[in-house]
Amino acid sequence: MKSMKVLACYNIKGGVGKTAAAVNLAWLAARDGARTLVWDLDPQGAATFYFRIKPKVKGGAKDLLRRKRPMPDSIKGTDYEGLDLVPADFHTATWTWCLTRSSARRAACTRF
Ligand SMILES: Nc1ncnc2c1ncn2[C@@H]1O[C@H](COP(=O)(O)OP(=O)(O)OP(=O)(O)O)[C@@H](O)[C@H]1O
Ligand SMILES: [Mg+2]
Repeated sequence: MKSMKVLACYNIKGGVGKTAAAVNLAWLAARDGARTLVWDLDPQGAATFYFRIKPKVKGGAKDLLRRKRPMPDSIKGTDYEGLDLVPADFHTATWTWCLTRSSARRAACTRF
C-alpha cells in the first residue's frame, strides 16, 4: 500500500501563486495516477471555484478538524478522474489565529 503524501502551499504574501500551484500540482498528481484530494482551507475559496464546486462544508470545516464528522461526508468529486475536493468554508478565516494560540496545533494539522 502506498503511503499518503501531504503537500501544503503556504506563503504569508498574497497573490504569489499559492492557489495556482496547489490546483496544478493536484491535477498533475491525479493525471499521474495518484488518488488526490484537495482540501481548500482558504476561506477565499479560489481553489473550490476553479473546480466549479460550491464552497460549503456540512457542519463546517471545524467539525472535520475536530473529527466530529467523517471526512468522506464532505468530499466532492471534480471533473477530473482521481481528483476530489473538500470545499472551502468561510469560517476557516479565523483558523490561523486559533491554531497559532493552540498548543495542540501540530497534532490538529497532522491527524489527516
Ligand atoms: N505561473 C504563473 N504564471 C502566470 N500567472 C500566474 C502564475 N501563477 C499564478 N498566476 C496568476 O497570478 C494570480 C495570483 O495567483 P494565485 O491566486 O494562485 O495567488 P495566491 O497566492 O493564491 O493569492 P492569494 O494570496 O490571494 O490567495 C492569478 O491571477 C493567477 O492566475
Ligand atoms: Mg489563493
